[in-house]
Amino acid sequence: MRTTDTISWQPTSWTTRQAQQQPRYDDDGELANVIAQLSRLPPIVVSWEIETLRERLANAQRGNAFLLMGGDCAETFEDCESDKIATKLKILLQMSLVLLHGLKKPIIRVGRMAGQYAKPRSADTETIDGVTLPSFRGALVNRPEFVPEARIADPELLLRGYERAALTLNFVRALSDGGFSDLHHPQYWDLGFLNHSPLKNQYQKIVDSIAESLEFFERVSGGRAPHEVTAVDFFASHEGLHLLYEQAQTRFIPRQKRWYNLSTHMPWIGMRTAQLDGAHVEFFRGIANPIGVKIGAAMDDGWLQGLVTTLNPQNLPGRLALIHRFGAKDIEKSLPRAIAAVRETGQQVLWICDPMHGNTETSSGGLKTRRFENIMRELELAFRLHAEHGSYLGGVHIELTGEDVTECTGGARGLTDGDLQRAYRSTVDPRLNYEQSLELAMLIGDLGKPAVNRSTP
Ligand code: PEP
Ligand code: CO
Repeated sequence: MRTTDTISWQPTSWTTRQAQQQPRYDDDGELANVIAQLSRLPPIVVSWEIETLRERLANAQRGNAFLLMGGDCAETFEDCESDKIATKLKILLQMSLVLLHGLKKPIIRVGRMAGQYAKPRSADTETIDGVTLPSFRGALVNRPEFVPEARIADPELLLRGYERAALTLNFVRALSDGGFSDLHHPQYWDLGFLNHSPLKNQYQKIVDSIAESLEFFERVSGGRAPHEVTAVDFFASHEGLHLLYEQAQTRFIPRQKRWYNLSTHMPWIGMRTAQLDGAHVEFFRGIANPIGVKIGAAMDDGWLQGLVTTLNPQNLPGRLALIHRFGAKDIEKSLPRAIAAVRETGQQVLWICDPMHGNTETSSGGLKTRRFENIMRELELAFRLHAEHGSYLGGVHIELTGEDVTECTGGARGLTDGDLQRAYRSTVDPRLNYEQSLELAMLIGDLGKPAVNRSTP
């Protein structure tokens, strides 16, 4: 960051710019009161954890680690329950073991959780049967039910969201410190889906080999399981959309002489709010966290280059992740161009593939869905194109849940449009379920290997 800009930057500097996707509140006094409370409440994360993550991401940027970023499209307050949190953490940790086995690199685990409560929407209002109401903007803002009271933006929800984020991360920290007893015993994972896949033998080999490595590890460390030897690191992230909320948790850390957004370790800028002269870019410019920006096909070279130089003028390793979400259809056209544009700036970034948001479609029954095959196709192309263009794909960003939902089609069980009704629970985007997520990790483990060692054609 240029010194002059850092000096002039304040957590409120963004208010001089146009802020997209912000809710309108009826009572300014109540809103100001809530923001003042949030500014005094203790932070959810601390600066040294953020710095640790930045160093790990710098390692991924150099090609020596891989980032697994995943969780719900939108967390809900109702899902802030012990079982649901544990289930989500469990799938992410299991996936990270599968990835570690396949990629043979440290896996950095970052949940889309403990604060993923604000959603950008394509329209400000929603009309059903001639009735028009404000859109649902996430649990931090209003409620999803289609009734007028539910859709009013309520400042109190900012406090409820902060509290639930803190409760979630508190539990995640305790669980990851203690380790999960069954995490290191793949024989206890729910692997029934293997039997449904034509790749059953290949998958079984992966699972057996992970079990073998873990047993070996336990033997050589005197019977202690891996989690007892090295604590599991787990970081939090969410879209930094609601700027008053993010601003309220942003603090100057005198020891570091920098501002940190302490609402999460790694916030990201969504695609709808990444305008170069917009409020979100202005806010993110001044915080020292590692940050992500979602990149889509509509961003031209100048825009992309402007984001890179504005958000990371000092070219600090691990600071900036570009999360591309072009869709399986557009990635071949858009990614090589984006890689070349960033290269022209002379800056380093961490490239991450989000194979979800460019592959959303409407099912025959009218539900929002994504096909497993398109998600895999985009990932496959992302690995290939980065390698072909002398770049490195350093991570993936996935919408998933540890539960048995039916929101995305395909996968080993071959879910179809007809299956979607059975357990469709997302209030926003469709997520991969437990089995689809684990299968995806197995396939990524293979994609990320050098071509000579790959088991699939
Ligand atoms: C999201 O990550 O849920 C999202 C809205 O993504 P994007 O900004 O890439 O559309
Ligand atoms: Co989403």
